[in-house]
Amino acid sequence: MKKITEQNEMNALLQSSGIQMWPQEKIEQFRATLLSWYDIEKRALPWRINNDPYRIWVSEIMLQQTRVDTVIPYYLNFMKQFPTIKELSEANEDKLLKAWEGLGYYSRVRNMQKAAQQIMVNYDGEMPRDPKEIIKLSGIGPYTAGAIASMAFDLPEPAVDGNVMRVLSRLFEIDADIAKPASRKIFEAVMREIIDPYKPGDFNQAFMDLGSSICTPKNYHPELSPIKEFNASYINETWINYPVKSKKKKAVPVYYNGFLIENEKGEFLLEKRPKEGLLANMWIFPLLEEKKFEQEKHQQIEAYDLEDKEQAKKQRLMDLQTKLIETYQVRPTLMKKPFAEVTHIFSHLKWTILAYYGKLFSDEIVLPESCSWIHPEDFEKYTFPGPQTKLWQSYLLYKNKK
Ligand code: ADE
Repeated sequence: MKKITEQNEMNALLQSSGIQMWPQEKIEQFRATLLSWYDIEKRALPWRINNDPYRIWVSEIMLQQTRVDTVIPYYLNFMKQFPTIKELSEANEDKLLKAWEGLGYYSRVRNMQKAAQQIMVNYDGEMPRDPKEIIKLSGIGPYTAGAIASMAFDLPEPAVDGNVMRVLSRLFEIDADIAKPASRKIFEAVMREIIDPYKPGDFNQAFMDLGSSICTPKNYHPELSPIKEFNASYINETWINYPVKSKKKKAVPVYYNGFLIENEKGEFLLEKRPKEGLLANMWIFPLLEEKKFEQEKHQQIEAYDLEDKEQAKKQRLMDLQTKLIETYQVRPTLMKKPFAEVTHIFSHLKWTILAYYGKLFSDEIVLPESCSWIHPEDFEKYTFPGPQTKLWQSYLLYKNKK
């Protein structure tokens, strides 16, 4: 039973948000309608085969930034390699990152391992049942805690993500901005009122399935929804206004020159990134950051007079070479022009990399400790982040066209 003070707080939140909660009878009709639709339509997904909290946890973390179809093969491979919390807690970091390669947002898997270690030490190797304990684990927020509590332990806890907020905002004509973190509490309060106390896991997953199949951001057809007769925005023909979602801040642009430097043995120079920060411990071709105007200046060289153009190109190559010597102790012969421009968006940053190829003819150099010469045949042993894979793919394309 909810405590009286909690219930009062929730009612106040619903009222101040202008949400008209349904009478109990309508709530019960809604649950029955939604759950019978889910029973028939639910997708057969590998994390739905049982109630194992570990399996559910891994799937929810993978699904946070990635679509279901993409996740499935990664999920199956991950469960094979790390079938239990204990094995995850003891896993070798390189193996773990490799299993995540291509999914991106690597902090997710690092946090998962930290949480697995916390579970081994503090909870005897078993996922705690209480959502207040689950949420203390590394990388687990209110959404994941609610998903685990409801799906693994049958607790009536909301699991509210962007998809669920979209469904609810149309269902109740909720004006709260779903891009604002503070709004989540409002949607959770609604969910706490309507969630089915006997099948909370199915109820939450029915919302997720609705959000990805019928109640989509675009091409929404409310007339096809199994819950259309409950849908205030459909009945009032206001659904075009929902959800309210303000624009995200644009990712901050960062500019790099990237270098594919090959030695006479056909090996490429790769650098292991520092153990903290973005793409920590992953391998990438050397990158040198540069101010935007410097890159633009370079790209405008084509507009110069012939003589100025040659001079400017030479100067640029010399500048890049000086920086390469300073940073990596290598003096390759660089191609005059970059062979590709590669972009990669992280959640808060947008990288633009001008990619250069260079050949190194001398091997009398001492590389910085973070660097190694690696043959392309061995690339698969290393974890490559998205921008690195794009750089290599662009190089192969360029080389095959030559
Ligand atoms: N998206 C996030 N969690 C999900 C789940 N359990 N089933 C389907 N889609 C999801």
